[in-house]
Amino acid sequence: MALILGIETSCDETAAAVVENGCKILSNVVASQIAMHAQYGGVFPEIASREHVLKIVPVIEDTLKEAGIKFKDLAAVAVTHGPGLAGSLLVGVNTAKAISFANDLPLLGVNHLEGHVYANWLEAANMTVVEKQFPLIALIVSGGHSEIVLMRGHNDYQMLGHTLDDAAGEAFDKVARLLGLGYPGGPAIQKAAEDGDPNAFKLPRAWLRGTYDYSFSGLKTAALHLVQSFKDKPLPVADIAASFQAAITDVLVEKTKQAAEEFGAKQILLAGGVAANKRLREQMVKRADRPVLIPPPKLCIDNGAMIASAAWWHLEKGERSGWDLDVLPSLQLAVKSQ
Ligand SMILES: Nc1ncnc2c1ncn2[C@@H]1O[C@H](COP(=O)(O)OP(=O)(O)OP(=O)(O)O)[C@@H](O)[C@H]1O
Ligand SMILES: [Mg+2]
Repeated sequence: MALILGIETSCDETAAAVVENGCKILSNVVASQIAMHAQYGGVFPEIASREHVLKIVPVIEDTLKEAGIKFKDLAAVAVTHGPGLAGSLLVGVNTAKAISFANDLPLLGVNHLEGHVYANWLEAANMTVVEKQFPLIALIVSGGHSEIVLMRGHNDYQMLGHTLDDAAGEAFDKVARLLGLGYPGGPAIQKAAEDGDPNAFKLPRAWLRGTYDYSFSGLKTAALHLVQSFKDKPLPVADIAASFQAAITDVLVEKTKQAAEEFGAKQILLAGGVAANKRLREQMVKRADRPVLIPPPKLCIDNGAMIASAAWWHLEKGERSGWDLDVLPSLQLAVKSQ
């Protein structure tokens, strides 16, 4: 039995979890800073890192207490070392190093995006079921990323396409701001869209045929022009939110589906904060023609359990990070082949 402490501080969540054998969550504590950043309409990096400094020790103490264990019971300590905000990542990485050094525990630096992918196998019966699910296509959609990735095995990633401009989550956040819906935009747009008609306005879909790349800047600009056209009239917030959500999910679903067909994927996997979106989840399941794995919404957003899960495979392979483990704000999961 291997218990891993997973630490996540890449953005605005201070999180730590204890996970057994990569899939069984013993505890998962997340201290969100959303309220502190809402007034700025996005994450304020300096405030984020200061908050992590204040929260990291209590969050780790809480997670160990909830799991009913002590540091000596752990097999390893894993931490997100990129991508993310440098100042925020530093807090998690240095805390993990201190715990590792003081308790003589293996240290593992984890790619945050790999964590989002592995959130799919948290709560699986055991990790051996996962072996039968490759090759698969992963759609990683979050605040900073929109990527279609081919996975032929564990920790084996081939980047098929990515966004050429905004990430999907960023587009949700920016359009929510245009509609006066506040931050974070994804959940706010989803809620407003419940009372709207997804066909009320025809917003553009950038198909970028022949590639698996995305582009959302045209959609964002179209939403801006639409909002401006209601200058002297009441803004139909629900209809615009529903039409925007329909446009963005259409492109995400169709391109992922095409990739799954081309590469003979046994299944599709959704990952990242935007994977919490109800319409995206429903449409992907409806249109995919193959099984779709999606983490429960609370595991789509940043958390420590996904980091502990991803780390388990690296620990099994005998990998270890050294004391020179550094933060890598622009770390990639895979580089796109030409
Ligand atoms: N229900 C939802 N519908 C659409 N978008 C959502 C929903 N819930 C959250 N999001 C979006 O997910 C994003 C946050 O996801 P996540 O926490 O994974 O991003 P991040 O960690 O900041 O970025 P990254 O993972 O790329 O480093 C935000 O842009 C938010 O608006
Ligand atoms: Mg994230």
